[in-house]
Amino acid sequence: MVKQEEFRLEQFMDKYENDIDYNLGETCCYSMTLNEIESLSGNKFDFGKLAESRLAYSYIKGSPELRQLISGLYDRIIPDDVVITNGGIGGNFLTFYSLVEPGDHVIVLNPTYQQLSSVPSMFGAEVDILRLRYEDGFSPNLEELRSMVKKNTKMIVFNNPNNPTGTVISADVVSQIVDIAKENDSYILCDEVYRPLFHSLNDGEEPPKSIADIYEKGISTGSMSKTFSAAGTRLGWVASKDKEFIRACWVRRDYNMISVSMVDDMIAQYVLQNKDVVLERNYTLCRNNLKLLKEAVKESGGKLEFVSPKGATTAFVKVNIKDGTSTEQLADELAREYRTLVVPGETFGYPGFLRIGYVNREEDVRGGMKNLLDYVKNK
Ligand SMILES: Cc1ncc(COP(=O)(O)O)c(C=O)c1O
Repeated sequence: MVKQEEFRLEQFMDKYENDIDYNLGETCCYSMTLNEIESLSGNKFDFGKLAESRLAYSYIKGSPELRQLISGLYDRIIPDDVVITNGGIGGNFLTFYSLVEPGDHVIVLNPTYQQLSSVPSMFGAEVDILRLRYEDGFSPNLEELRSMVKKNTKMIVFNNPNNPTGTVISADVVSQIVDIAKENDSYILCDEVYRPLFHSLNDGEEPPKSIADIYEKGISTGSMSKTFSAAGTRLGWVASKDKEFIRACWVRRDYNMISVSMVDDMIAQYVLQNKDVVLERNYTLCRNNLKLLKEAVKESGGKLEFVSPKGATTAFVKVNIKDGTSTEQLADELAREYRTLVVPGETFGYPGFLRIGYVNREEDVRGGMKNLLDYVKNK
């Protein structure tokens, strides 16, 4: 049996998620209902078509319409470059399952979603972590990255925009990472489930392009969950110009998926057809709630500080308290005594930090941050 590490973040969330009033553990832009999308867009979801559709496997590869809509999110990707999966988590898993084997070396930029380092290790690869530092604004040290690359480095993995830090690796730095990978003919997996949530870039700053648009061996994973507020569809994808890799994905996928749900496929099509209004709603939510978070951090008088997020839905807040309470203990007590969920940095290997998901409802951010301030006030 393959060896598998416990997924610390998911286990922490599971402990409290349904027993709290203020949820700052969430990473999706506050999930939407079909009614809300209908009223924002003025376009009706075709419930009649759904009711008349036979509940069959339908298209094994995902409907042509859905793959067309997903390819439209990229510059160079065509429908044949897209593999539909169960969530972004399925896309990441399928990527490692299709490429990684014992004898391979994989470099992962951390902190990030634990799946991205645990799964290649589970498939027998030697995994090295490039640790990003708060003092560097969580930007990668490229010399360090270069020095870590070995002949057998199969893949460099990062997540942009990033969970948990909310930072964006700039277009320039991404292109230097591509140069490093190219020299060694390594793949790059970029988990892009938060694209295109680049909501708070500096004036005139261009967002980085998708890795699949700029590197032949670049693999982009995407999702309906975060940016498009439709995690309930459990629908994600892999996109790449590397035909051999895409074929390997299809071959593996036949053994563990067959197809995604045709109901999810129809709903995802509808959401993507109306993506402009969904994105506009979500950019506004990101920016407005980030303002509230910034105010709370300021009000903490130095007990909380952070690298201000430029994208995605979370911030990685550094906690400066002196009474010896760990952030894990803090998060446990906050959940139990204040009914407020935050994720301790320990789950990412960063004690002393809290991940705050701030793109849930406004009342989660207002109420949750008020409770967190109250908690740290006397510490
Ligand atoms: C970076 C990252 N990748 C992938 C996922 C998985 O999300 P989903 O399977 O809902 O797309 C998450 C969820 O938190 C995430 O933060």
